[in-house]
Parts: sequence; structure tokens; C-alpha cells
Amino acid sequence: MAVERIVMDPAKSDDHIPEEFEIKLRPHDFTNYIGQDRLKKNLKLAIAAAKKRGEPLDHILLYGPPGLGKTTMASVIANEMGAQVRITSGPAIERAGDLASLLTSLQDGDILFIDEIHRLHRTVEEVLYSAMEDFKLDIMLGKGPSAKSLRLDVPKFTLIGATTRTGALAAPLRDRFGHIHRLEFYKTDEIAKIMQRTAGILDIKIDQKGSDLLARRARLTPRIANRILKRVRDYADVNGDGIIDTAISHKALDLLEIDELGLDPVDRMLLDAIIENHKGGPVGVETLAALTSEERGTIEDFIEPYLLQIGLLERTPRGRKVTPKAYRHLNKNLPKDNDNQTKLI
Ligand SMILES: Nc1ncnc2c1ncn2[C@@H]1O[C@H](COP(=O)(O)OP(=O)(O)O)[C@@H](O)[C@H]1O
Ligand SMILES: [Mg+2]
Repeated sequence: MAVERIVMDPAKSDDHIPEEFEIKLRPHDFTNYIGQDRLKKNLKLAIAAAKKRGEPLDHILLYGPPGLGKTTMASVIANEMGAQVRITSGPAIERAGDLASLLTSLQDGDILFIDEIHRLHRTVEEVLYSAMEDFKLDIMLGKGPSAKSLRLDVPKFTLIGATTRTGALAAPLRDRFGHIHRLEFYKTDEIAKIMQRTAGILDIKIDQKGSDLLARRARLTPRIANRILKRVRDYADVNGDGIIDTAISHKALDLLEIDELGLDPVDRMLLDAIIENHKGGPVGVETLAALTSEERGTIEDFIEPYLLQIGLLERTPRGRKVTPKAYRHLNKNLPKDNDNQTKLI
């Protein structure tokens, strides 16, 4: 039986077709959006200034690992601006014409949210440049010698782009954003607050110790916190009296094979393979993909950022390397000749 991958990507579906549950949980304003204080401070200022001048907001790029609240933040911004928001994603806009009809259907001050903006088609991206910069659209009509170019005005919209990788974004596109913000992993106490908020909305009974325990296993990521909470609630309903306490939490996490650091079997397999087959690294991301039979993108987006964040993996010019902390976590002896050794002191 395949192990349930709570930390992995079912996001592909739940990002675009939010379940009822997702919609209910999304905070709608800055007050309910927990954490990301620096980002909120910057955005509040930008919003206040734009409102005072009666202008639309500058275009905003949000980047960072999946599940940290980019899509949520886009709708919070729209809400706080009192603006309408249209939601689409990079791969969904297939032709320049699709973008043109999307843009011309907007009104001044509207927000266009493009998720996975790094996956925009090149031809679409080029049309977007002038729309972002001058609120003009240059469209070619026809083909060959009789082709004509047409310049259209588009409403003064604000583009909010979200991406897991700024590196994959073409520089001219990146440069056209007035605000570029990175979403950070959350602190454990913020994750606990998010879990308590979710529990309140979904009427889940969880005590303080339970939420503290689950919060430490949620990879510092709100989406995973909410998923774990749902799974553990299922467990509590079936095997207990529905109340999530420490004992129930421990048993449910064991069943889900999520360890004290929030790692699942694939994370552990990956670290273990680097240690056993590659003497702890460094190894390239392609090797990591081969070791886990996961796609490179999955490694880069879903697995690696958290392992780097909590210091189990380390980036070096020659690839990724496991750290002494990873050896300790997996109960492995550090090899004597390993230059990691020095860091133990
Ligand atoms: N700061 C936050 N406070 C409370 N809940 C959050 C926060 N950020 C994200 N969430 C929850 O986590 C889920 C995933 O967030 P989402 O915005 O879809 O992440 P991303 O777009 O970065 O992948 C959402 O359903 C939302 O309910
Ligand atoms: Mg999203």
C-alpha cells in the first residue's frame, strides 16, 4: 500500500479548485492572516499609500515554497484594497489572445492573480510586459506580410504573480514588479495559532498540548498544518472520543509516519540514500530525484526547501550535502573522514 504523502503535492488540485474546506479556512484580511509580519507591514503601507493617492497598487510578485500562503495573500490584498480579483494560472493562459481577452474584461483597479507565473508561455509573457508597464496591449492581427499590429488600452489593473521559483522567471518579467516579496517558513507558535484557528472554524476539539505537538510536525507550513489536523481529527473520531490530545496525536502521527521533525518516509529515504550511497554528499538535484524516484520539480519545490530550512541539508557549490544534524536524526554515525565532523564542535 502506498504511504499517504501528507507533505506532498495534492496541492496541484487543491490550489485551483479549492475544496469547500479550503475556502472556509482562507483568511480574508490581515488580522486573520497569521505570521509573515514583515510582508504584512510592507503591504499595508503600499495599500495605504495607493488608497491615499487613489491609484491602483504596483504589481506584486509573491514567491516561496508551496503552502505558505501566496494565493491566500493575493485575495487578502484584493480584499484590503476593496478590489475585485480574477484568478488564473500561468499554464491556463495558452495564447496571447487569451491574455488579451482576460485583460480587456478587467476594470480599473481590479487585481489579476496569476499563479505559477513562471509557467507562462513565452509569447503570452511578452504581451504581458507592455500591459504591466503602460497598460497597453500590442496584438498582431493576421499573419505574414498583411499582418497588422494593434495597440489596445487596458484598464489600470494590478498584477499579483505567485511562483515557487523566482529563478525560473525571465528577468524582464521580474523587473516589472514594483514589489517582490518572499514568503518565509512560519514559526512553530504561528503554526500552532493557525491550527487553533482552523480547529475553531471546523469545530475540531484539540487541547493546547495537542496543537503544540502537531504544530512541530507541520513543516512550518500552514497547508500541511491544516492537512495534519484533518487527518488527526479523523483518527480521533474513529479511535477516540473526537478530542485531539497528546496521546491521540502521537498515535495518529505514527500511523502517518511523520516523525518529530515533520519528515515523512520519503524525506528519510532521501537523507538515508545520500548518506549510504554518496557518503553524505554533495550530490546534485538530479541525483536526489533518482534516489527518491520523484521528479526534480517535486524535490525542488516540496522536499528540499524544508530540509534546508531546518538544517538537515546544506547547499554547496557542488550540490546538496547532509549535515551532522541529519546523521543524528537518522541515528547514523558520522564517518571519521567526513569533513562534516568539524562542525560538530
Ligand atoms: N498566514 C496564514 N494564516 C492562516 N492560514 C493560512 C495562512 N497562510 C496560508 N494559510 C492556509 O494554508 C492554505 C494554503 O495556503 P495557500 O495560500 O494556498 O498557499 P500557496 O499559495 O503559497 O501554496 C490555505 O488554505 C490557508 O487556509
Ligand atoms: Mg497557491
